Amino acid sequence: MKKIKEFTQDYIDQNSSNENHLFYDFLHSKEPYQSIFKNNPWMLPPDIKKPLEWGDHYWDTTVGRKHQYWKDFELPKPSKDINQIREDFLEWGFALIEDAMSKEQTSRFLNRLLEQAEGEKLAKIENITPSGQYVNTLINKGEVFAQCIEQNPEAVQAGPLIEQLLNESLGKGWICHSFLANGADPGGYPQGLHMDQGPLSPWITQEAPALVNTMYIPQDINEENGGTLVIPGSHRIMIEAGSDGQIGELPPAINLEAKAGTIMLFDGRLLHGTAVNKSDKPRFVATMSNVKSWMRTQENWVISVAPEILKNASPKLLHRIGLQALTYGSTIEGFGLGASGRIGDKWGAIQQFRVAYDEGNYQRVRELSAASTQEELSKDYTVRSARKNTKE
Ligand SMILES: [Fe+2]
Repeated sequence: MKKIKEFTQDYIDQNSSNENHLFYDFLHSKEPYQSIFKNNPWMLPPDIKKPLEWGDHYWDTTVGRKHQYWKDFELPKPSKDINQIREDFLEWGFALIEDAMSKEQTSRFLNRLLEQAEGEKLAKIENITPSGQYVNTLINKGEVFAQCIEQNPEAVQAGPLIEQLLNESLGKGWICHSFLANGADPGGYPQGLHMDQGPLSPWITQEAPALVNTMYIPQDINEENGGTLVIPGSHRIMIEAGSDGQIGELPPAINLEAKAGTIMLFDGRLLHGTAVNKSDKPRFVATMSNVKSWMRTQENWVISVAPEILKNASPKLLHRIGLQALTYGSTIEGFGLGASGRIGDKWGAIQQFRVAYDEGNYQRVRELSAASTQEELSKDYTVRSARKNTKE
């Protein structure tokens, strides 16, 4: 076969210098982080090969009410009032939901989490990060966590309020990006301050976030034990700079202060990160971020969810973990194209493919033609039974 010159790698390489690249300047701008670090050297993350330094660094801070810069501002206070929460979320990029978990719910959550963290250490499979221990994929590690993903009031009494605000920010049909516990262990390093929707950079969604995080706080947090670092209102600075925009001097970070049972709702454009735990006890929070229905999720739920959890999952839980296909997400062999994405829609019920897979029965459609045997043509293809099930 004669090679076409224009399709050879050599020719393509010769004609693909950076000036030729599509969208090169925009996609390689490294904004907003480049200007953040240039104009705010105190924002640079620590060198985790060296002992942690104190001084002019974002982690050397305190709670808002004690902070020289922030103490006279009306920063968000824990509240149960949906209108107050909306206001705080818009103005400061975060809001604190007071008693989002009752005392009993909080201790059920915390006890299971601490037991699990201990068990993973004993099994020598703990996930230790520079900040502390993470406990991943909580959905498999206690009924309480699956209930939280559903925002079930049995586990999280503020569930209906959280759902309302996520519907408003992300549009109905949003799904759970991941749910994991983030430890700040004594002696650990702070996380670099970041935006959770940072992977979209240099795009900054201007009008609304593309990701909203809900942070479960099952134990009191403060400036001593690693209350999460946030730069209040930093989402607005991002919005004003816009996509590919440059960021000037930023206000300082604070440690979050909240009582056990609080849930922090925060905008995917807010600068935040795990703080330093100066106490002698571990400190956990758990982050459940949420994204629009068609986005790829951080947790690959389709693989990770345990079979019996999947089998017993409510239609709502299946939807929330992305196991409800819709035209532009999670279709399997074309099944789900045309589906509405609504909870329980049979046209998007992809759970059955995973069940078939678990049972060793998943039959994919392979090469077929008029020459295929009758056996090949009449195979029990999983997509065949899935389509049949939509009619039942
Ligand atoms: Fe984050």
